[in-house]
Amino acid sequence: MQNNKFELDGWKLTTHELDKENKRFQESLTSIGNGYMGMRGMFEESYSGDKHEGIYLAGVWYPDKTRVGWWKNGYPEYFGKVINTVNFMKLAFYIDGAEVDLYTDTISDFTHELDMYNGLLTRFFIITKGTKRVKFTVQRFVSLATKELCAISVQFENLGAAATIKVASAIDANVTNEDANYDEKFWQVVEKEVVATDGLLVARTIENNFDIPQFTVGFKMTHEQTGFAVQAAVETEQEIVTNYEATIETGEKVVLEKRILVVTSRDFETVESIKEQLNSLTQTLASSTYDEIKTAHQTLWHRRWDLADVEIGGDVSAQQGIRFNIFQLFSTYYGEDARLNIGPKGFTGEKYGGATYWDTEAFAIPFYLSLAAPEVTENLLDYRHQQLPQAQHNARQQGLAGALYPMVTFTGVECHNEWEITFEEIHRNGSMVYAIYNHANYTGDESYLLTKGIDVITEISRFWADRVHFSKRQGQYMMHGVTGPNEYENNVNNNWYTNYMAQWTLRYALETLPKLSAEKRESLQITAEETAKWSDIVEKMYLPHDEQEDVFLQHDTFMDKDLTPVAELDPASLPLNQNWSWDHILRSPYIKQADVLQGVYYFPENFTLEEKKRNFDFYEPLTVHESSLSPSVHAILAAEIRYEEKAVEMYERTARLDLDNYNNDTEDGLHITSMTGSWLAIVQGFAGMRVSDHELSFKPFLPEKWENYRFHINFRGRLLLITVTTAGTDVKLIKGEPLTITVDEKPRVLKVEEAAK
Ligand code: BGC
Repeated sequence: MQNNKFELDGWKLTTHELDKENKRFQESLTSIGNGYMGMRGMFEESYSGDKHEGIYLAGVWYPDKTRVGWWKNGYPEYFGKVINTVNFMKLAFYIDGAEVDLYTDTISDFTHELDMYNGLLTRFFIITKGTKRVKFTVQRFVSLATKELCAISVQFENLGAAATIKVASAIDANVTNEDANYDEKFWQVVEKEVVATDGLLVARTIENNFDIPQFTVGFKMTHEQTGFAVQAAVETEQEIVTNYEATIETGEKVVLEKRILVVTSRDFETVESIKEQLNSLTQTLASSTYDEIKTAHQTLWHRRWDLADVEIGGDVSAQQGIRFNIFQLFSTYYGEDARLNIGPKGFTGEKYGGATYWDTEAFAIPFYLSLAAPEVTENLLDYRHQQLPQAQHNARQQGLAGALYPMVTFTGVECHNEWEITFEEIHRNGSMVYAIYNHANYTGDESYLLTKGIDVITEISRFWADRVHFSKRQGQYMMHGVTGPNEYENNVNNNWYTNYMAQWTLRYALETLPKLSAEKRESLQITAEETAKWSDIVEKMYLPHDEQEDVFLQHDTFMDKDLTPVAELDPASLPLNQNWSWDHILRSPYIKQADVLQGVYYFPENFTLEEKKRNFDFYEPLTVHESSLSPSVHAILAAEIRYEEKAVEMYERTARLDLDNYNNDTEDGLHITSMTGSWLAIVQGFAGMRVSDHELSFKPFLPEKWENYRFHINFRGRLLLITVTTAGTDVKLIKGEPLTITVDEKPRVLKVEEAAK
């Protein structure tokens, strides 16, 4: 765990220290985005120390050749890379001809501040060079009001002797990816042009051999300068630069504002149409001042917070954690664009590649179901529905029937190339179906399930029916050679979670079929032999169970391991993935993330409290939580079985995973998809929210350290406000038709209060 140098504050992340040793970590934490684009908290100006500069555009990627030592049949041909886009923010500052570089210069009064309420990133610092002393205020935001816009404002205040300030403002296509397999650069410049202080650069991704269309992106920068004289612009092969100069007297201030518009071929096909759109957006914004566009942006953040904020009284650390997570999630995805999904690093890094993991279905959908318009969840489900042909292709790659949704993808085609994950971590298919079920269960509306959802469910059922085999010896269906959610064991036989998900999927498919219209049923061409086989598998699926411990067995041979609990390990060996050989990890009993417990969490009604407790007591002490997805599931289960201390510990770990760098890897970027975990831990965990058989219920408790907490949820056309205090639980219906819910197993009838109507 790392001391993060940012102060505790409910709405802000503020540090007064430029932590040169941990610059990448600070950059990750100060990332911002607007769903369309985003960037790490890199500095605009030159910085010669260690750093990781990254600006990313949603849906803009590159298929990089798969690199493996030993090719195995079934491997995908390419790995989809999130690419670092053209550096459009670039600025260089000079004081009397000497370039400002925060790595080497004498700096004082440094402040870096992420304002989550307003969606602004601001820096203040003073540079002293001899008798010259200049205070800089640099602010940027990526606009929620105009998604293509990034705005930067720099104010220079002279605190020393008269000085000449020069600024060079650039769009630079000479960028690299941290993780390029072959050190390639992924951008080539197609067009560039500078007219006065306006610059335009159009770049295209380099060619690839995989039939993936190249992306073309246009960048346009415009400037407003107060007190500066414009100097000659400079163009090089990969870069355009406009220059500004001002001589400022002691006490004087000058300001330069840079606006950059970014339009991609995802929305406008040709270079001409991209340029037209850039020009038209420039004109629309021309009459607005920086403050006006900033206000429009802030107002939209405020609106998001009105619904999504979770207030925690009495624990500012917990408060900062949940807001940070919600801020970063919404910066990555707010559901406006149905073609997009939620990448595990969002706009904050390159690790993991791809845009879409099972994380979305397992961890993000419950969050968006409660906090976004219903279309958002349907968009996320549709994304997978549209990729059904690609999922069928993935199954064929493995020689199997039906559909296998990818572990990592941009297009639906698997692009991850480790056999133990690509071929074996097939439990992911179960979460695709779970998400469809979750949507129907939460919304009470089965129309999606019965129209599109069933297409996905049918093909996944066909996959499971082909992937299991029948053991004559045991008279049961089994699944060998799989990796469960616990990636610290591979190629295991009969992972309880995977077998359970397969059995549950087939049962759900069989239950859903009679509800379909004749036409829909016809279109699926499900034969009587198929349904007979599905029923047989449901009936005879092997679900390993250990008699002695009376727990669901993670896989056939788990009990033969040396089951020494994590608490008895030398703390210096944690995290295991950074200290032990892979071989050591695979042989060990240590669990990366919820595995059996993931299944127990998914289906709260299918297990008794006793079963939950027994399995938690057995597996949690062996769990190292080295996947960011782990603590939230454990927080929720611990809350349900009233292990309050554990629940709070797990909440803190999920809420402050990146802020406190629990897994020692935040420098690579934030763990975006698991950020829903802190919300789930509060809402499903502490407040005990469940939806079962059309009934919404809560079983809240208040963590001892907290004075109170409150949050809103959308539920079936209604807006509810839940407040938990030492005096009890108050649930208010803010909007919508009356509703009966249960709180602590007692019914409550909710009606909008007259005054609020
Ligand atoms: C986890 C996976 C997850 C991926 C992306 C891995 O570390 O084990 O379950 O899908 O990260 O978040």
